[in-house]
Amino acid sequence: MTTPILAVAGKGGSGKTTLAALLVRALLERGRTPVLAVDADPASNLGEALGVTVGTTLGAAVEEFYGERAAAPPGMTKEALLEMRFASVIEERRGFDLLSMGRGEGPGCYCSVNNTLRALVERLTGSYRAVVIDNEAGLEHLSRRTARRIDVLLVVSDFAVRGLRAARDVSGLVDELRLDVGSRVLVVSRAPADPARRAEALPRLLAAAGDLGLEIGGVVPHDEALVAADLDRTSLLQLDAGSPAVVAAGEILDRVTGALGGLR
Ligand SMILES: Nc1ncnc2c1ncn2[C@@H]1O[C@H](COP(=O)(O)OP(=O)(O)O)[C@@H](O)[C@H]1O
Ligand SMILES: [Mg+2]
Repeated sequence: MTTPILAVAGKGGSGKTTLAALLVRALLERGRTPVLAVDADPASNLGEALGVTVGTTLGAAVEEFYGERAAAPPGMTKEALLEMRFASVIEERRGFDLLSMGRGEGPGCYCSVNNTLRALVERLTGSYRAVVIDNEAGLEHLSRRTARRIDVLLVVSDFAVRGLRAARDVSGLVDELRLDVGSRVLVVSRAPADPARRAEALPRLLAAAGDLGLEIGGVVPHDEALVAADLDRTSLLQLDAGSPAVVAAGEILDRVTGALGGLR
């Protein structure tokens, strides 16, 4: 199969970055490498969750490109210069690379730059065996320059009616922006840690939220190990393999990729 692109979306604080990092981890554990992790949320930090200190972002590189374009070495095309900047943004780690989109862009739309970037990302995608994109709630990045096609969009909500309704709105945005999305699932994160309590509360939560037009792709329980990792600023790649959230993300990956015909 071609490189599957998994993207995570949802309102702030729902657990997107955590899920994205745990999906990267699950892909590494399954030997589906190399993985490209894309941080497309300027307000968050997928790098930190993966234990990567980000040197520069794509947004910053584009700004730099604009600053120096006039001074491009003779014989160097605009595209070649951009490609050079682009390559310097990618952080390489064991089993995965990280691309941080950052802000940049400025008030105007650098449309030609975005087109070039999209082409680069598309070409780059082919050299990975999976791509995981951590998105901002707005999803505009996705339509502008991250990817044309998303195989699986995981819309994340916390364990709350309001969160689920926000997830429904995010899903509506996908239609509005006419994103090319293969399948779309809801992931309910930060669910009660106690399995019995979770089993009892989940149907009630879903009933209270009403029709969301989204299939459930999985549930991530509240995990104290994540709270500790946040406090200690440690990578989610270092969490215990038996940690409830780690296990849950692995199951979610298997479920959504199973629908794609498996990882092999
Ligand atoms: N399943 C979970 N159990 C415990 N804490 C969680 C869980 N998921 C996320 N968190 C914590 O909630 C906060 C927000 O999560 P994050 O993944 O950064 O959300 P988002 O990317 O949607 O803004 C973080 O401090 C994170 O550690
Ligand atoms: Mg985030």
